[in-house]
Amino acid sequence: MKILDMPPFAPVLMESTRAMGYSLESAVADIIDNSIAANASNIDIQFSPYDAVPFISILDNGDGMTKEQINDAMRYGSQSSLNIRDSKDLGRFGLGLKTASLSQCRCLTVITKQGRRIEARRWDLDEIYEKGTWALLSLNSEEIHAIPQFQTQLKSLKSGTLVLWEKLDRMLNGAKATDKLMSKQMEYVREHLALVFHRYLAGEPGITKLTIQMNGLKIEPKDPFLIGRSTVFQADEKFMIEGYPVEVSSFMLPHVSNLTKKEKAALGGTEGLTKDQGFYIYRNKRLLVWGTWFRMHRKDELSKLARIRVDVPNALDHLWTLDIRKSTAVPPDVIKSNLARIVDRISEGSKRAWTFRGKREISDNGSHLWSKTKIRDGVVYNLNREHVLLQLLEETLNQEQKKLLENYLRLAEGNLPLNQLYVDLNNEEQVNVRKEKDAEREAIETVETILANISDSPMRDAQIRLIMQTDPFCNYRNIVDMLAKELDS
Ligand SMILES: Nc1ncnc2c1ncn2[C@@H]1O[C@H](COP(=O)(O)OP(=O)(O)OP(=O)(O)O)[C@@H](O)[C@H]1O
Ligand SMILES: [Mg+2]
Repeated sequence: MKILDMPPFAPVLMESTRAMGYSLESAVADIIDNSIAANASNIDIQFSPYDAVPFISILDNGDGMTKEQINDAMRYGSQSSLNIRDSKDLGRFGLGLKTASLSQCRCLTVITKQGRRIEARRWDLDEIYEKGTWALLSLNSEEIHAIPQFQTQLKSLKSGTLVLWEKLDRMLNGAKATDKLMSKQMEYVREHLALVFHRYLAGEPGITKLTIQMNGLKIEPKDPFLIGRSTVFQADEKFMIEGYPVEVSSFMLPHVSNLTKKEKAALGGTEGLTKDQGFYIYRNKRLLVWGTWFRMHRKDELSKLARIRVDVPNALDHLWTLDIRKSTAVPPDVIKSNLARIVDRISEGSKRAWTFRGKREISDNGSHLWSKTKIRDGVVYNLNREHVLLQLLEETLNQEQKKLLENYLRLAEGNLPLNQLYVDLNNEEQVNVRKEKDAEREAIETVETILANISDSPMRDAQIRLIMQTDPFCNYRNIVDMLAKELDS
């Protein structure tokens, strides 16, 4: 038996790998992964596809590369996917720089700088076709200095790397070169980066905070969990797989009617909420896949507010069936069985957010304005007859007036405009919109009235304590503080 060395034919292989299925935004994200792995804190993206010489460039202020490193970096399969990677490395396959770039352009130039040392390499598909070999171009100093993007962008940095895409056939092919198309594509890229790198953009312990600019405009992080506004509906969990931690946090977004217009738009409206519910898998804090229950749960109306953050380290890559674009991943059974437990509890959690939207997490001992009772045929909502304000009012009424009031309350309860409310909520109307300030002012006025009414009451202290726990007063810090002072005096 003989062994034949059968290297791939460069032009054909390179052309084929262009069809891996990268979108423009996932290709740009793949380049930024490399910048993050190289400890960059600043990334500057330039889109100039309709200039005389159209280009897209991605500049970072990371560590840069030595001559040997850039040679390796340009090779297809620069590092084995089986290697153990630094725990901060976002790479896996040794391909992204080449495959992501050449999926969008026919000419990739990488220029890197470490102090005074500057190196540049280029894959030009047209050149490869002509030579028929893996002809990597190495640019000399004069050629590097003749590149305008080097002059304007990388030259002034101490260290860093500039990735330059030219011959943008994919982007420009067939398209009428209108500004509209370009701004649309830039918008996709902006939104994608704002989401997948949101934790880097916002900064958190253990990672270098990142700034990304696109044509001079800073990209703001897009937090899919609305942290601070949403409810953590069960305690964070951590489980160990092969000695590595997998961490899970479960968020319930605020009820749709409690979202501001801006928040709702950012979440993609009702459609976006339903579509994007589910797990959000982060690999080294970089969002990998999102908006899926991995077939453990149906994307239904009730769970549409639930979003579960799962943090996995890159050391567990071999379990996840990661693809080269790093845009799909399938959780292994060990992880699935742990996640299944959490999924089971979601329906319960989201039901609660729908029924007692927003209030209950603050004080559940407090007395609610409405009470809900389960009966055989469904549920009944009644105004809580124990509510402090109602009790006070009743004290001032004679029997006849009390009866009239009770009749009125029953009438209101029995005629809630439920169908209309349902339609409004589904149409994303904000129901009972009130400015937060107005609602607070009204609540303060009510408390003041109550206080005036109970000033001589022997039960005054107990009543004040009750108001402090009562809906909606318990939701306002100012009111609770005011009542606490009242108790002290
Ligand atoms: N901006 C950069 N700064 C410093 N080094 C870089 C940069 N971009 C790429 N490299 C080096 O080039 C190597 C190859 O990058 P490439 O994206 O092709 O593969 P990878 O990141 O190792 O794996 P993956 O295919 O999963 O992205 C990297 O491992 C890194 O060492
Ligand atoms: Mg990479």
